[in-house]
Amino acid sequence: MAEQAKQIRWGIIGLGNIARELARDLALVPDAELVAVASHAAERAEDFAQEFGANYAFGSYQELFECEEVDVVYVATYHHLHARYSIEAMKYGKHVLCEKPAAINATEAEAMIEASRTNEVFFMEALWSRFNPSLRKIKEMVDEGALGTLRSVQADFCFYGLDADPKGRLLNPELAGGSLLDIGIYPVFLSYLLLGMPEKISAQSRFFHTGAEIQTSMILHHPWAQSVLHSSFAHTSDNRANICGEEGQIIVDPFWFQTTGFTLTREGKSQPFSFPLNGKGYTYEIEEVHQCIRGGKTESELWSHKDTLNLISLLDRIREIAGIDFPIATLE
Ligand SMILES: NC(=O)c1ccc[n+]([C@@H]2O[C@H](COP(=O)([O-])OP(=O)(O)OC[C@H]3O[C@@H](n4cnc5c(N)ncnc54)[C@H](OP(=O)(O)O)[C@@H]3O)[C@@H](O)[C@H]2O)c1
Repeated sequence: MAEQAKQIRWGIIGLGNIARELARDLALVPDAELVAVASHAAERAEDFAQEFGANYAFGSYQELFECEEVDVVYVATYHHLHARYSIEAMKYGKHVLCEKPAAINATEAEAMIEASRTNEVFFMEALWSRFNPSLRKIKEMVDEGALGTLRSVQADFCFYGLDADPKGRLLNPELAGGSLLDIGIYPVFLSYLLLGMPEKISAQSRFFHTGAEIQTSMILHHPWAQSVLHSSFAHTSDNRANICGEEGQIIVDPFWFQTTGFTLTREGKSQPFSFPLNGKGYTYEIEEVHQCIRGGKTESELWSHKDTLNLISLLDRIREIAGIDFPIATLE
């Protein structure tokens, strides 16, 4: 009989919305085990551990980093705390899956990558759309020339969020709030995935009374192609992506960043593709983490350290052009 693979033991820090989503999908991955959870609020940790069957509930992140039964830490805190806690976890020899954006600037991301190398542990930004089965197929098709020369990527990510708590993480610049890092990261990711680094960028933003950026339009220019991208908390949209080449077009079904399918149109004929998701779709990044850890890797080939650094560098450039500033200290 084949030997059963050892379980990969997870710990989660920051027990908010996305932590719950990931915990639900962890339960769908057979060789994953949620062992420990940690929150600033001990009671929240107790409730979360009970709901998801974790053995340990800690009232501080530090205790989870010190827990010898944890192999990999999922960092689900606010953006501006991703670097600090990821680096701390790696110092304790933990592998890390950190929510997007990995960091609030490239300097922080570089320090995280350095921590992964120094401590010889796996580190990946939880850019879950990279592992979405439809988007993986689209990337393959585009690279194989299914659309001919790629000329245009149009994508947005919008929802109405102006009724959120002005002091909360979406609308508070002191928590690195704003649409660009929260949701604009996805259209920029799609353009980067398919077209690479642009030669020039144009961007304009609108701001909320809190100082947070709430709407950003971007053009990423390559010598042979352009991307037109948009993110907004000021309105909804159909959240569809449109990828056009000289010989064909792909329309990605909404919400494109967590899609279950797309339509390829070539020579006047349309062909639908369908890839139903396992769970909410976080299962695929979890499986990638497992595969990399089992292979002794410090980074994923599908979403590498370089990819994380390139993406945050693009967001840094967009912020500079559009005047998006965070009045907070950052790792130096
Ligand atoms: N991949 C995706 O689909 C997706 C979706 C949504 C969000 N995200 C990302 O996940 C991260 C968290 O978002 P969320 O929606 O889960 O946020 P949330 O519900 O507000 O929870 C975030 C958690 O951060 C922790 N935290 C740490 N320091 C804090 C502080 N000083 N003040 C307040 N809370 C603090 C809190 O955990 P404790 O109090 O329990 O310690 C809180 O529960 C963000 O970076 C976001 O971009 C990703």
